[in-house]
Amino acid sequence: HGQRHYDFVIKESNYTRLCREKTILTVNGEFPGPTIYARKGDVVVVNVFNQGHKNITLHWHGVNQPRSPWWDGPEYITQCPIQPGGNFSYRIIFSEEEGTLWWHAHTAMDRDTVHGAIVIRPRRGTTYPFSKPHREIPIILGEWWNDDIGQVLADAISTGSDFQSSDANTINGQPGDLFACSGDGTFRLPVKHGKTYMIRIINAALTNGFFFAVAGHRLTVVGSDASYTKPFSADHVFIDAGQTVTALLKARRGRSNARHFYMASRPLATNPQATVDSSTATAVLEYVDAPAAPGDAAHGLPSLPAINDSSAAAAARTDFPDNPLSPFNFTADDLPPELALTARGTRVKVLEYGAVLEVVLQGTTILGGDSHPMHLHGFSFYMVGRGTGNFDKRTDPAKYNLVDPPYQNTVSVPKNGWVAIRLRAENPGVWFMHCHFERHMVWGMETVFIVKNGKGPNAKIMPPPPNMPRC
Ligand code: C2O
Ligand code: CU
Repeated sequence: HGQRHYDFVIKESNYTRLCREKTILTVNGEFPGPTIYARKGDVVVVNVFNQGHKNITLHWHGVNQPRSPWWDGPEYITQCPIQPGGNFSYRIIFSEEEGTLWWHAHTAMDRDTVHGAIVIRPRRGTTYPFSKPHREIPIILGEWWNDDIGQVLADAISTGSDFQSSDANTINGQPGDLFACSGDGTFRLPVKHGKTYMIRIINAALTNGFFFAVAGHRLTVVGSDASYTKPFSADHVFIDAGQTVTALLKARRGRSNARHFYMASRPLATNPQATVDSSTATAVLEYVDAPAAPGDAAHGLPSLPAINDSSAAAAARTDFPDNPLSPFNFTADDLPPELALTARGTRVKVLEYGAVLEVVLQGTTILGGDSHPMHLHGFSFYMVGRGTGNFDKRTDPAKYNLVDPPYQNTVSVPKNGWVAIRLRAENPGVWFMHCHFERHMVWGMETVFIVKNGKGPNAKIMPPPPNMPRC
């Protein structure tokens, strides 16, 4: 086992985006925050020092943390937050994960700026199930608000309305060339002809799923969340909030004068205020071995589906590429009575150790609305089925993919459809499940699974560390 240490100092820093300076919460002054590198089987220790003015916790999104919920991070679920001036050491235990994950704050809205990539390489002495790329690059899709994010939440709560939409979307913290005062900071990825690059794309946004593409290049998707997929080629992908996609990008072979190609992210948004112009974030793929072209103009934007094209999103969901959704067929009349009314309450599910669990997540949105990126802590799970309309327990299970289902920690539930997931409850502890759209989570789209201890020493929760923060 390798062991690595990182020091994460939570502090406020000033950043300028969209022509204005603003104070944001950061780790070590960086936005996005530092990348954590590990190999499968490693334990990584992250010492967190809270030098900010409010409580904070950090979460290692997609790391199962076997028998160790103490270091999982959601505030008031598995720990009291780290208070200003306090510190806490997290142990991130990489047992089965390999691929692209990420970390983020798990207190209120802080993950808006407090997030970063986790790169998990194969065990020492082993390699990728494809030829080793020349370089690996995290590509973090995010958002930027001119207002303080706490204020955005407070306004939404006091007026009872939706969050105001972000003022820009970002790639590695930058809105890109389409935005005022932004061109100098645009993220540039240097590449050379003939080489293959692994891009590790993370959707860290609070409010949107994103389409992503690179002009003049196709992507070969090789992984999603913390596992590999059967490789497939795509000219754009859709990544829901919280999900990751690992893709190979083959640089062009023949030398040409073309030096710059845009990559772009565009949200799938149902918010009518959102427009394409204010929402497409760009970055630049730069062939450093091509001569600088006169005027140095970048090629056009990659073509991406329209901002409201939910069928395109369904077709490009990398967690289930073979089953594009057909048009929605859901009506209010079909709604099963138990789904018709939601109730206030804390419904915690208690599971015996080793229980085999199937959960069907049913979207019940009737008017407009969103799909829901549902995320489970403590587990990766198999997504065995997805469909439109109401789940039918007599006929739908026969269509499950029990051969090579995607292995995910976050799954996109279509707004008028369902998703079925399966897992074996072999991780004792308290595990949060919630929608990864922040506003849906604060509206109550969250629950907790408690997995009981099993028999034998390897089926029991580990004792808490002595330095757990106090409330
Ligand atoms: Cu990525 Cu509970 O979160
Ligand atoms: Cu949701």
